[in-house]
Amino acid sequence: MKGLFSMDITYLDNAATSWPKPECVYRAVDRFNREIGANPGRGSHRKTIEAGMLVLETREMLAGLFNVKDSSRIVFMPNVTYALNLALKGILNPGDHVVISSMEHNAVARPLHALEQTGVEVSVVQCAPDGSLDLRDVELAVKANTRMICMLHASNLTGTIMPVEEVGRIAKERGALFLVDAAQTAGVLPIDVEAQHIDLLAFTGHKGLLGPQGTGGLYIRPGLEVRPLVEGGTGSLSEELSQPDFLPDRFESGTPNTPGLAGLGAGVRYLLEVGIEKVRRHEQELTELLLCGLKEIKGVTLYGPCDSRRQTAVVSLNVAGLDCGELCFMLDRNYGIISRSGLHCSPLAHRTIGTIKKGTCRLSPGFFNTPEDIEKTVRAVAEIARESKW
Ligand code: ALA
Repeated sequence: MKGLFSMDITYLDNAATSWPKPECVYRAVDRFNREIGANPGRGSHRKTIEAGMLVLETREMLAGLFNVKDSSRIVFMPNVTYALNLALKGILNPGDHVVISSMEHNAVARPLHALEQTGVEVSVVQCAPDGSLDLRDVELAVKANTRMICMLHASNLTGTIMPVEEVGRIAKERGALFLVDAAQTAGVLPIDVEAQHIDLLAFTGHKGLLGPQGTGGLYIRPGLEVRPLVEGGTGSLSEELSQPDFLPDRFESGTPNTPGLAGLGAGVRYLLEVGIEKVRRHEQELTELLLCGLKEIKGVTLYGPCDSRRQTAVVSLNVAGLDCGELCFMLDRNYGIISRSGLHCSPLAHRTIGTIKKGTCRLSPGFFNTPEDIEKTVRAVAEIARESKW
């Protein structure tokens, strides 16, 4: 892949957003914009119907992927942060208690910090330095007033995969709701809202699901009351001043990102055809290769499980004597390797793994990376480590 200045680009920032997208995703966005272009669910002409069908198809495919029986329980939002905000602020009341892990992203930590000011109580279960969670600590954290357990499926910092099904069982047994942040796993790891006892599933469209940015959503289990954060036009019951009480309209006010949702549908269709087991297998092989290569380099510190079976395709590292920002900059400038440095919007997780002061350089391969990309990256890190002044 050629980037700026005709350098060969190796994109390893898929945990921030996947790139490139499958060709069918670009085509679906373009086709929507050029050939359909209408506002879905507004009016009754042929173009609005076609736009509405596209949105429905995307919803149905996602329902199939997550084993959701009624696709109207999946509501579309601009991204996973909005979905998490809706799930937290639309459900929790003063006096409610929430349990989270110490690996959560700011998309959970910040709304909960705001809710704490209103009287919501938050307990943070401390994870091990590799990001892993002890189920007994979750059990111990649950109290009589625990309304919800909220947890990410995998860390965006270390890739650590959380025992979602087991935590879901604890939530169910203890009468708490289970909210899963699937930002790093939708499209990469199997998600089954029934088998994993998930009441609320927040997902993004532009990472593992291979869709465009500006797409995401929330699955809401039937029977669950959630207060909308936004009211407005839905194209339905326009004579009423009050917001419709049925889904998805209750939570989908205003014109949606229909080009994005057309692209997301194409991404999900592509994934269903390839099979997410194949995606996971490929990403796991790349992760294994990366971990094995980096482990051998003097001066490199790796974080997280360092075991491709226990993590997604996310590897955080530091090189002795170098700031993580310098490392990412050198990878980019000298080798065309794209990574992300800093705190990755996850200060809780950085505190957990002991990198809150220095941050890390994060390498996150995706389905379109090759073993050659990884070998090139390992060689580049080895050269940089050799030349650094530690
Ligand atoms: N949360 C995304 C990341 O980890 C953007 O980079």
